[in-house]
Amino acid sequence: MVNGFDPASADSLNDEMRELVARRARILGPSYRLFYDTPVEFVRGEGTWLFDSEGRAYLDAYNNVPIIGHSHPAVHDAVSRALSMLSTHTRYVTHEILDYAERLVATFDGDVSRVTFACSGSEAVDLAVRLTRYETGAQGMLVTSNAYHGTTTAAAQLSPSLGPDNDLGSTVVRIPAPDAVRDGADIGPCFAEAVRTGIAELRARGVGFAGIIVDSILSSDGVQPDPAGYLREARQIVRENGGLWIADEVQPGFGRTGTHFWGYQRHGLDPDIVVIGKPMGNGYPISAMLTRDGVGDRFGNDIRYFNTFGGSGAAIAAASAVLDVIESDGLMARAHDVGAHLLAGLQNLTALHPRLIQARGAGMFLAVECDTAETARVIVNGMRNRRVLISASGENGNVLKIRPPLAFDSTHVPTLISTFAEALTEVHPS
Ligand SMILES: Cc1ncc(COP(=O)(O)O)c(C=O)c1O
Repeated sequence: MVNGFDPASADSLNDEMRELVARRARILGPSYRLFYDTPVEFVRGEGTWLFDSEGRAYLDAYNNVPIIGHSHPAVHDAVSRALSMLSTHTRYVTHEILDYAERLVATFDGDVSRVTFACSGSEAVDLAVRLTRYETGAQGMLVTSNAYHGTTTAAAQLSPSLGPDNDLGSTVVRIPAPDAVRDGADIGPCFAEAVRTGIAELRARGVGFAGIIVDSILSSDGVQPDPAGYLREARQIVRENGGLWIADEVQPGFGRTGTHFWGYQRHGLDPDIVVIGKPMGNGYPISAMLTRDGVGDRFGNDIRYFNTFGGSGAAIAAASAVLDVIESDGLMARAHDVGAHLLAGLQNLTALHPRLIQARGAGMFLAVECDTAETARVIVNGMRNRRVLISASGENGNVLKIRPPLAFDSTHVPTLISTFAEALTEVHPS
């Protein structure tokens, strides 16, 4: 396994972990995967630290859901206040959801004007695809080669990263993802050409073109942030062919990329639909689909929407607390500054080791492309054994993904870089 625990190696674990892993496999079944050659059990989190059952601290440089930090008191207090006062659904009038929705919309460019709340990124993606198909009257969707967009039937069909046995169906065409190393300065034109070819492939199958969904930082396709703006040419082709562009901001959103609140804004895009989730409630489930003026009106008028938990009082309280802290703690500016510091350190290491190909990133969404999945595996596990958490991504599993909570600050950078350097000593240079 590239980036996860291989059940065949259970013998190497201590007795307690071996028993936990076996119990987990018995009751949760084989779909659930674990990170790392030696899995880790966490019992507590605080800020950018996770603590294992022995009380040892691990620097979390991977989890983006707790964007303002693990176990943040602002979220805890807001949710507990809502749960002890009122947390009901969207069929009554409550002002909190309106206050939050207006505040959220203000973080987008002017013409994103409407919000629909759900509980998970998958649900928001699912709704976005339904709406896209309804509005265009076509079924065909394009996805990037190793995309991940979620777990519902429709979202899984847009998620080739689930592997070759996950059938995408006849209405989804997989196109080559942008690739900074392969395409270099031509990354934008190459992706535009991939979109053009994908639309032609749909038509050759007799399927009309409805739209494309793109994770604005290509997080499962090896993290492809640069150069900002390179997605614009592809966007133009989608528009010319009557399709809708769904920007999946589940990963890059909420200021993580350092210069813009939403990843698509780095590219100067004007998506028709945006889906957001993960860090939105810092661990409390909440997600949303947002639409540009006029997009989705027909769908909304014709089809009722109700989501029992989506936009509940507790969820809105959590999401409001997250926005409060992002603003009050200046987390977007911090993502920019700390991310630049981290990237410089990763670029220095990359220049020194022949098995590291390229370090790249935007704010606190960083990646180091390695020559092989095996190199990535050794580094991920070497860092885990030294108690710094990262992971790997990309179609070949050879890209290290570094995406800490934004509680990660400049004092944590030396620990990450020195631990990376130590783990690198386990990688043979040739
Ligand atoms: C880009 C992207 N879209 C959608 C999803 C689905 O979100 P959820 O797991 O909340 O359903 C994910 C989850 O990892 C994701 O990374």
